[in-house]
Amino acid sequence: MFLLDGAEFRVLSGAAHYFRTRPEQWPHRLRTLRAMGLNTVETYVPWNLHEPRPGELRRLAELDAFLSAAAEAGLLAIVRPGPYICAEWDNGGLPSWLTAALGRRVRTRDPEYLDRVDRFFDAVVPVVARHQVTRGGNVIMVQVENEYGSYGSDAVYLRHLAEGLVARGVEVPLFTSDGPEDHMLTGGSIPGVLATVNFGSRPEEAFAALRRHRPADPLFCMEFWNGWFDHWGREHTVRDAADAADTLERLLALGASVNLYMAHGGTNFGTAAGANRAGELADGEYRPVVTSYDYDAPIDERGAPTEKFWRFREILTRYGAAPAGVPGAVPGGLPGGVSGGLPEPPPLPPVLPAGRVALTESVSLFDALPALAGPPVTSGTPPTFEELGLDHGLVLYRLAVPGPRQPYPLAVDGLRDRAHLYVDGERVAVLERGREHPVPVPGPATVELLVESMGRTGYGPLLGETKGVAAVRHERQYLHGVTAWPIPLDDVSAVPYGTGADRRCPAFHRGVLEAAEPADGFLALPGWGKGYVWVNGFCLGRYWERGPQRTLYLPAPLLRAGENEITVLELDGAPDAPAVEVRPGPELG
Ligand code: GLA
Repeated sequence: MFLLDGAEFRVLSGAAHYFRTRPEQWPHRLRTLRAMGLNTVETYVPWNLHEPRPGELRRLAELDAFLSAAAEAGLLAIVRPGPYICAEWDNGGLPSWLTAALGRRVRTRDPEYLDRVDRFFDAVVPVVARHQVTRGGNVIMVQVENEYGSYGSDAVYLRHLAEGLVARGVEVPLFTSDGPEDHMLTGGSIPGVLATVNFGSRPEEAFAALRRHRPADPLFCMEFWNGWFDHWGREHTVRDAADAADTLERLLALGASVNLYMAHGGTNFGTAAGANRAGELADGEYRPVVTSYDYDAPIDERGAPTEKFWRFREILTRYGAAPAGVPGAVPGGLPGGVSGGLPEPPPLPPVLPAGRVALTESVSLFDALPALAGPPVTSGTPPTFEELGLDHGLVLYRLAVPGPRQPYPLAVDGLRDRAHLYVDGERVAVLERGREHPVPVPGPATVELLVESMGRTGYGPLLGETKGVAAVRHERQYLHGVTAWPIPLDDVSAVPYGTGADRRCPAFHRGVLEAAEPADGFLALPGWGKGYVWVNGFCLGRYWERGPQRTLYLPAPLLRAGENEITVLELDGAPDAPAVEVRPGPELG
């Protein structure tokens, strides 16, 4: 057990990421966590969200506001400020400009890497530090690195991080978290810093492993995986509520503290979803993560309590004693201890009525290029997305096949992750990473590759790979001389509808959703292929007919009463009468 202000205290925490829920919804989600019987919320901090370009720090006020909102909801807080977070987040939270530049040197003692980490810590750690319980706030613990033992063994690096946190004002206990395996615990923990373990089942074995290395540390499961995430093209994962509740009960019966991963998952808005590699060693097939991060968590993507919520609540009520009072965190201390009874989950906003939104305007991406693309870059070999300063989006590569010559196979090397191949303006193939079969192309010809990036691998030895293409070959001959247009997808307000005569796909499509009042919605795109959806300029994320996810969650705060603009970028081919369906509930597979 831990001590809080001298009294025995069990941490009953749940993960909810401020960056996966709209800020307007934080109070609701946090109050729902509290109503489940949790006394603490845990969040990661994604470095790549806060430093999209070197030295350009932004949106740290969101972390600050989230921690205040947690205190207002009567919750203590655990913060995991990176530098690496995993979390099915793009690139495991590391900035793509950093991994592109440093490769295997990230997450080690490499001086250039540490210098970047130090500067990020200079910005983020003071925000966390001013919310500590020791300073009248609610932050009780801070993580040093994330499951580092699943990646490396550089204790000098871990020590540097721990010292850096302390030097910047962290006074509350530091911790590491790792898989319950000897090699992970010995690679990922450091003397003098609390070690915790992450698992989804068999708590007795997991804690026995922790005990072998840390006979005296209080038992803490920093990630109890009560649900799981999904990959495109694979089955939707669910975790049985009764089974998860049984594991939770056993874990708590051992006297342990817990952080439910996730208590509320939320959404990988925009291009934030990461990717994994299959296989025991996380070095196999590439698997991009879907847009929803519902996670089959006790509080679903929309914020509604599920069966898991009620089962967990019953258990947490028996084990939980809300701390008697956190000085200054909440006036009068934390409300709703067991004796006082837990608050009820707060009400949810209305749901949009089922309907259909016709998308009546459209423009080809090729006609929109001058308005959307950054300046073209010409070079000998194809630049990566990162070399073009692009985190995600599309890149159009244009090359010439000299001629005359016969139709040799055209091969794309190192495709990440998907490309439409055009020869003399005609689409001839859609290539996909791992399935990039060579296509016969005669010369002379103009070849265009429109490359889309999916999430960056966020876990394992292949963390931090670049996007784009490595090379294009005609037979064995590299094709040199490339012009590349970076196409960021972060501002669709400039899409020039009604211009151009190009009928080619990809295209943007626009329509108006009428709402009587702001309400939650679920958007489905039956008959569409693959692309992105925006509501009033905010990117909800990717859709793909491959599933398992069929609907995109549209949070009420993005809507206004009256007219709302729906934008779709369809890459493969829109239906004849382009329309988006509004559905009353989610369909995640
Ligand atoms: C690990 C990581 C988390 C998350 C989970 C799976 O435990 O630490 O960030 O990726 O796996 O959801």
